[in-house]
Amino acid sequence: MPEASEAKVRLAAVNQNPASARDLLRIVIVGHVDHGKSTLVGRMFHDTGSLPDGKYESIKAMCERRGVPFEWAFLMDALQAERDQGITIDTSQIWFKTDARDYTIIDAPGHKEFLKNMITGAAQSDAALLIIDAAEGVREQSRRHGYLLHLLGIRQVAVAVNKMDLIDYEKDQFDLIEQEYRDYLTSIGVTPTFVIPVSARQGDFIVNESDKMPWYKGPTIVKALDSFMPNASPIDRPLRFPVQDIYKFDHRRIIAGRIEEGRFSVGDEIVFSPSNKKAKVKSIEYWSTIPGHQAPTEAVAGQCVGITLDEQIFVERGELISHVENPPIETDVFRARIFWLGHEPMTKGKSYRIKLGTLEAPVTVQSIESIIDTSDLSNTSSNAVERNQVAEVVLRARRMLALDEFNEAPKTGRFVLIDKYDIAGGGIISMEGYADQRELITSRSTNITRVEHGVTTEQRTFRNGHKGGVLWFTGLSGAGKSTVAVALEQKLFEKGYNVYVLDGDNVRHGLNANLSFSPEDRAENIRRVGEVAALFARAGVIVITSFISPYRSDRDRAREASGKDFHEIYVNADVATCEARDPKGLYKKARAGEIKDFTGISAPYEAPEAPEMVIDTSSMPVDESVAMLVNYVETKFKV
Ligand code: ADX
Repeated sequence: MPEASEAKVRLAAVNQNPASARDLLRIVIVGHVDHGKSTLVGRMFHDTGSLPDGKYESIKAMCERRGVPFEWAFLMDALQAERDQGITIDTSQIWFKTDARDYTIIDAPGHKEFLKNMITGAAQSDAALLIIDAAEGVREQSRRHGYLLHLLGIRQVAVAVNKMDLIDYEKDQFDLIEQEYRDYLTSIGVTPTFVIPVSARQGDFIVNESDKMPWYKGPTIVKALDSFMPNASPIDRPLRFPVQDIYKFDHRRIIAGRIEEGRFSVGDEIVFSPSNKKAKVKSIEYWSTIPGHQAPTEAVAGQCVGITLDEQIFVERGELISHVENPPIETDVFRARIFWLGHEPMTKGKSYRIKLGTLEAPVTVQSIESIIDTSDLSNTSSNAVERNQVAEVVLRARRMLALDEFNEAPKTGRFVLIDKYDIAGGGIISMEGYADQRELITSRSTNITRVEHGVTTEQRTFRNGHKGGVLWFTGLSGAGKSTVAVALEQKLFEKGYNVYVLDGDNVRHGLNANLSFSPEDRAENIRRVGEVAALFARAGVIVITSFISPYRSDRDRAREASGKDFHEIYVNADVATCEARDPKGLYKKARAGEIKDFTGISAPYEAPEAPEMVIDTSSMPVDESVAMLVNYVETKFKV
């Protein structure tokens, strides 16, 4: 542990003022130049009266001198040139104002810089304005732009369908474009709040309404933007205080760090994640407290402070402090959108060190879901992410991590990956399809004592003629788990085994009737079944469980509950095969969007890495699978 005096100097040096509240909205404007991006921005500046004095007039005069028609884009080019030279406008300057508030536009010379800035945290936005061309309709380029917003997790989105003048302000054509684009955006998890027909050139529905589209009843662009909410300021967010160091000061232990988000007071009950230890804040120690002044009773985001606790608990650097009521997510697997900077490509199965707040831990690339080329925003799938590419990946840690979704808490929802000693990439976290595992590992039972059985395991085994245990079937819906399970149950029963099938659809009628198919509920489904199966096994029964059980972490927990008597059987058939079989007609419904979070279609399935047995039902008939399993049981369970 560092010396107290050294710590004092270090902390005093980094202490900062609390972050101040914002009164502006940061928007990113995404669209192709040809779709009228500069024209729209130029028009918006002009019509809101946000242009520097005389700018419009001087560009207009310049156009007349040269005999070219006035273009709004010229105006924006001129402003951009000034900004690049740092003459009148710097990047932090407010770019335009409406009656309601001020706006900053986040822009970057190209997609690469833009994505890099957004993912690594150099820039952040509250909302997005997406521009598409009415005359062109929804083309690949617009889809790619939409996908950008999905990658960045921006939730407040307005779509401007520009150049309505070129299609005679026709409602029918607009309706078609709106429907097509809404469908596309929704399919990638982006919900546009507004889709607005505009003509930037003519000034229709940018700032002013227009009588050319009496059929349109929605807001103008500026009204739409005004209705968006700025992200909460760091102080108003839930408390996130990563533990940077623990200092021993005379008899006290001081836990120190920088408060990233939120605030807390003396007396507040806090929890350390992922250790989940709780305590109350006894005092707040500012290192720069002026002698004679009272010790502070409250601390807020942006400050570096030390705290003491009301009881001595052992906590470590890297833990994340929050209030008990609003803790971070706990998980060992998550989805991330990364910007890759490494000289060597990121590959599936490779391990890196993640830096998440003050924590450093190893993580492995479980899968690379998709790759986006930042030069043209094209989307591909590959097993390697090259330098300057953006990718959606799934990362797995060996232990629980405390983190947040980037959408919810930008500071703790972002990380850096280290390869050897170099920063190899930056990323933002999304838990889409994955469960917060906090509830699964939280125990609230207190004052309980185990009761010893009078009958031993050996006595049960002796009477049954076989050991108890779990055959854990996992696989997609329609892979054949239940069919094989039931046939196996019958065969084993006939051979004199005590055997019972626990089937997903059956258990969900009773014990787990209160659980849905959300990631958290699936995890709880498997937790309960894992425990029940372990009880069956201890009772001497061979239990065959037939559950999709899509998550590795859940299956590993089930294995832990049963110990050496657990046998994982991967009932393997790929999605195409299962979909072709579709015994319950559920794939059809899932494709039609009638069932959400459907495994294999819109929810993840993590295949086992090292199952005790794989049964390939697309190539093997049921009776052969059953024979193989009976054989396995006879060797493993018979005494
Ligand atoms: S698990 O994912 O929590 O392990 P479980 O095995 O209990 O799932 O239940 C799967 C069964 O529920 C499927 O065979 C299917 O009949 C039905 N089902 C209903 N909704 C879904 C869904 N969204 N995804 C997968 N299966 C579903």
